[in-house]
Amino acid sequence: MYRTHTCGELRISDVDNKVTLAGWVQRSRKMGGMTFVDIRDRYGITQLVFNQDINGELCEKANKLGREWVIQVKGKVLARSNKNSKIPTGDIEILVDELNILNSSETPPFTIEDESDGGDDLRMKFRYLDLRRTPVRQNLEMRHKMTIAIRNYLDKQGFIEVETPILIGSTPEGARDFVVPSRMNPNEFYALPQSPQLYKQLLMVAGFDRYFQIAKCFRDEDLRADRQPEFTQIDCEMSFVEQNDILGIFEGMAKYLFKEIRGIEFKDDFIRMTWHEAMKKYGSDKPDLRFGMTFVELKDCTETGKFTVFDSAKYIGAICVPRCADFTRKQIDQLTEFVKRPQVGAKGMVYVRCEADGSYKSSVDKFYDQTQLKTWAEACKANPGDLILILSGENIIKTQKALCELRLEMGTTRLGLRNKDVFAPLWVVDFPMFEWDEEAQRFFAMHHPFTSPKLEDVQYLESDPGAVRANAYDMVINGVELGGGSIRIHDHELQERIFKSLGFTPERAEKQFGFLMNAFKFGAPPHGGLAFGLDRFVSMLAGLDSIRDCIAFPKNNSGRDVMSDAPSQIDDEQLEELYLELKQPDK
Ligand code: AMO
Repeated sequence: MYRTHTCGELRISDVDNKVTLAGWVQRSRKMGGMTFVDIRDRYGITQLVFNQDINGELCEKANKLGREWVIQVKGKVLARSNKNSKIPTGDIEILVDELNILNSSETPPFTIEDESDGGDDLRMKFRYLDLRRTPVRQNLEMRHKMTIAIRNYLDKQGFIEVETPILIGSTPEGARDFVVPSRMNPNEFYALPQSPQLYKQLLMVAGFDRYFQIAKCFRDEDLRADRQPEFTQIDCEMSFVEQNDILGIFEGMAKYLFKEIRGIEFKDDFIRMTWHEAMKKYGSDKPDLRFGMTFVELKDCTETGKFTVFDSAKYIGAICVPRCADFTRKQIDQLTEFVKRPQVGAKGMVYVRCEADGSYKSSVDKFYDQTQLKTWAEACKANPGDLILILSGENIIKTQKALCELRLEMGTTRLGLRNKDVFAPLWVVDFPMFEWDEEAQRFFAMHHPFTSPKLEDVQYLESDPGAVRANAYDMVINGVELGGGSIRIHDHELQERIFKSLGFTPERAEKQFGFLMNAFKFGAPPHGGLAFGLDRFVSMLAGLDSIRDCIAFPKNNSGRDVMSDAPSQIDDEQLEELYLELKQPDK
């Protein structure tokens, strides 16, 4: 062993002991005849002392050490006269009598400190150096603790961890596949799994009634702070269960993780909200319940014939922002600009200020009198001093989504209501089975095509597909979809009807999912499951803004690994072996 102790271990009780430490040079400073060097490993930092008067040669050697050099030191533990209460080893230091340089280092391109001076790209390029920084390392330590806790919880509940293949056919999660050409099968491709969905259902047919896997998933989709092309799911499936059983087990797991990792206890059951209610009140299927400002619909209490924008709108919705009637013209203009951004998509915004004297001032007061403004204020239960913000539009869902963005903007940047240490969990249930796609002019499965419709809604499958609700559910915390799943169809005939509603020809269904359908002919038990995003769960508990920060080697926003420079070109020989020819993209 190169060391007797780690760099975070020694305390005042170790004084006078002879120790050996190994680690990286964090920093060194010379003060008179003394040289102080901080040595670091993943456990902490310890101060080393070299004394010119005691050992001049050794001190000279120490003076030559550079940042991030790897050293081994032997010496005696001393009590520090100048204690440092900020670090656990701050009461002691090591008077070094032997220094071995294990490796030198080039000067790192950024400081390896909690607050680094390196920009994002640079830190990603030298990720192994970034990972030496305490905050980044702590995220990975938390991730490790979580996976251990997850395995413990699920093991106790009788779940078996089973690995499923990475080189597979296509999965139906709705994103694009990453594909891998097969050398042994020219012109044929594997897909990387978007999730282990089909395999876990096959495991149910195989009788593994409680399965889980901490599984790598791959999706070629637009990236965001909570999306990576390669991410990890806590993927689970159970047989002989109904929706309630699944929600119970996994609500239990979420509570267990919060308790184990953050010491937070949720006494109450998680709220269950239908998809319909979530959209109506929050304009989102992943509402942030840390604060109010729920939507109020004003269409029914708005006079017609006064303002053409509102007359032609199918939806007029408001949020009431407490104590913000004193927003300046400039602040209101900024909000209007915000809602007009293409990502938000509203055409404009109407405001009503509820003045202290009970009167109202509004951007539409040339169209509507005080009585109408008062009607709106009453509908919003607004108090004097509140600010009402109104959006309208012809497309109900689109307008609700824009109002959702406005609510979140007010909650985040303007009012600071989205405290990272407050957690507001809920289940969103009763998702619609199908989602209409304007462009393709057809229905798509909102979850995936194996999701069971509610049996009482099956009668509308052909006549009114949009009205059919699914036995599907998401766990949402603080506006983030942490996980989701569904009860699956295990009945062959119902599955065929669903494929038909989704516009699959029997041939296409057979080609894509025939092996699963076939398996279902051999005694498929009733089953269902869900998958959590592990990266999102860790980020939530660690209070991170991006899931990248809890992934050891993440991709950047263009899906590149800037450290290894992947993806990259392959040579002609490899292409030939794979029977592939390249075509340059059109400019
Ligand atoms: P779904 O597609 O909802 O369901 O995914 C489950 C969870 O995985 C996480 N997630 C992601 N995390 C990071 N980057 C991504 N690109 C990404 N995409 C998804 C989310 C999400 O809630 N097979 C079904 C589950 C089931 O029905 O059992 C599935 O994959 O946290």
